[in-house]
Amino acid sequence: MCGIIGYLSNEDKDIVPILIAGLKRLEYRGYDSCGIVVCNSKSETLIEKSTARVKKLEEKAKNHPFPANMGIGHTRWATHGLVTEKNAHPHCDCKREIFLVHNGIIENYKTIKEKLKKKGHNFISETDTEALAHLIEHFFKDNLEDAVKKALKLVKGTYGLAVISSRDPKKIVIAKNASPLVFSINDGGEVLVASDATSILNFSRKVIFLEDKEIAVLTSKGFKVFDMESDRLKTKEFQELDWTIEKAEKSGYSHFMLKEICEEPEAIRNSIRGRIIAEDGLAKLGGLEKVQDKLREIEKLFLVSCGTASYAAEVGKYMLEEYAGISTETDIASEFRYRKPILTKKTAFLAVSQSGETADTLAALNEAKRKGILTLGIVNVVGSSVARQTDAGIYNHVGPENAVASTKAFLSQLSIMVLLTVFLGRQRDMSLVMGKRILGELEKIPDLMKEILKESEKIKEIAVKYSRYRNFIFLGRKYNAPIAKEGALKLKEIAYFIHAEGYPAGEMKHGPIALADKNFPFFFIAPSDSVYEKTISNMEEIKARNAPIIAIATKGNEEIKNIADDVIYIPKTLEMLTPMLTSLPLHLFAYYAGVKLNCDVDRPRNLAKSVTVE
Ligand code: F6R
Repeated sequence: MCGIIGYLSNEDKDIVPILIAGLKRLEYRGYDSCGIVVCNSKSETLIEKSTARVKKLEEKAKNHPFPANMGIGHTRWATHGLVTEKNAHPHCDCKREIFLVHNGIIENYKTIKEKLKKKGHNFISETDTEALAHLIEHFFKDNLEDAVKKALKLVKGTYGLAVISSRDPKKIVIAKNASPLVFSINDGGEVLVASDATSILNFSRKVIFLEDKEIAVLTSKGFKVFDMESDRLKTKEFQELDWTIEKAEKSGYSHFMLKEICEEPEAIRNSIRGRIIAEDGLAKLGGLEKVQDKLREIEKLFLVSCGTASYAAEVGKYMLEEYAGISTETDIASEFRYRKPILTKKTAFLAVSQSGETADTLAALNEAKRKGILTLGIVNVVGSSVARQTDAGIYNHVGPENAVASTKAFLSQLSIMVLLTVFLGRQRDMSLVMGKRILGELEKIPDLMKEILKESEKIKEIAVKYSRYRNFIFLGRKYNAPIAKEGALKLKEIAYFIHAEGYPAGEMKHGPIALADKNFPFFFIAPSDSVYEKTISNMEEIKARNAPIIAIATKGNEEIKNIADDVIYIPKTLEMLTPMLTSLPLHLFAYYAGVKLNCDVDRPRNLAKSVTVE
């Protein structure tokens, strides 16, 4: 995830080490390139960038000592444009007088860029951020903050922003909308800005967090915070932080995994942001535009992936067949690469991979390319091998996952499957009404997930209660059959003293039922959907054999309490969207069971985040 640092003092001195130290504190968030710019009291500036580690940037900067009184720095996690020095922040205007670092996404950057190009602005990067630097230049008259305010009025999207200018020196202008920013000013008139409290704790513990739609002007003499909409001055108080650096890295959570589970609603928001045209019931997937005519002709899709990503693909199969009317096959990449699938010109291959570097997924992709069919990807890591090697694709935009187990990326994959279904469905027979309905309900999902997060304590109690068992079966039907597998995978990898398997509930009678007894719990995913009655029958069969039962059910279903020993409720939504609500409690269940068993939940034994060997 991108990181921001900014520093200002009232005299020229070697401030590069301060910026570098701040960037080093942000490294844990993951990044692919970095950069700084510093400006001295004579309004001279120096920019350094690197596509390597911050250490490399530090070495480069050491070769050009440059006393300065203000500077900003950035670690970039690519979203728009590949990992190159040109795309690394800070970005600047045509005259190299305005510099900015940005976290978030400027959704309407293409429109802004085109308009400014016509006015003669010269762009050098592929990023969304650079458009903002030129837009600020366009509005610059007397002072920097007025130009930033005017520019942001035209921007659609999210940002944590730090801007400096040699035309209006001795100030840092910062602004926030859905991407965190915190600052501090000490008695010596030094200002420090960061996107993350980890970078500020060594400087001061007295900080101010910016709220959404606030813009602030920071100088050695003090600060002013404005509400962006009304332009009114706001009163803000410093607050004292008692966090350790380690706690700050995890935003106060005890593990990255828990932090990332709690970020699942936000992950969905980030993945669908700017991709829904509500009034037309359309999904706007920019990465697929160049192949949209080919996609109209496609009669079969192969979704290929590994592990958790393969369960997102399986859910996608149900969606694509039911709502887009496209015959869809899913396969595990390590199987696909060695079988002889029938791939015609009307077949497309879709790789689903958080890292974009999984060896088996890449090998399967190469096999599909060799056969000459259209290849697509759903990938989180921009510029990764899958992203580079597919013909077209969709990025998740959820930032890096620090915990080994995939959680927020999985939820994002599910939400992108919904967008893809609407995209392809509307090219075919899906009606405007249906498109609108699905997308409307999808937009509600993050808030519904927050309701489930409020039940975390109850889920924790259930996980702790059941963590003494050594075996589990997870069962679900239709859209939730893959979620049963996801629940089992998460439990065995995180709480690794427990063995767990996931099955489509109907399969239970064909073998697993033999395991049912009082020492073997069954976990049923049973929302009130089109297969609910069938799932309940399976549950009755297990109950008759005295096995303990946990169930996930839809709010309002009281009768299920007569069968299940413990129930976790989820809010109501469309059947095709239930996997997003059912997987969240399963992730929490695995997490709390793992913690109870003293497992290393963020780095479970024998596992790696990215499996780059066969
Ligand atoms: C499980 C998990 C793995 C990955 C799998 C694929 O929690 O994280 O099963 O989903 O290794 O990885 P990607 O998505 O990077 O291809």
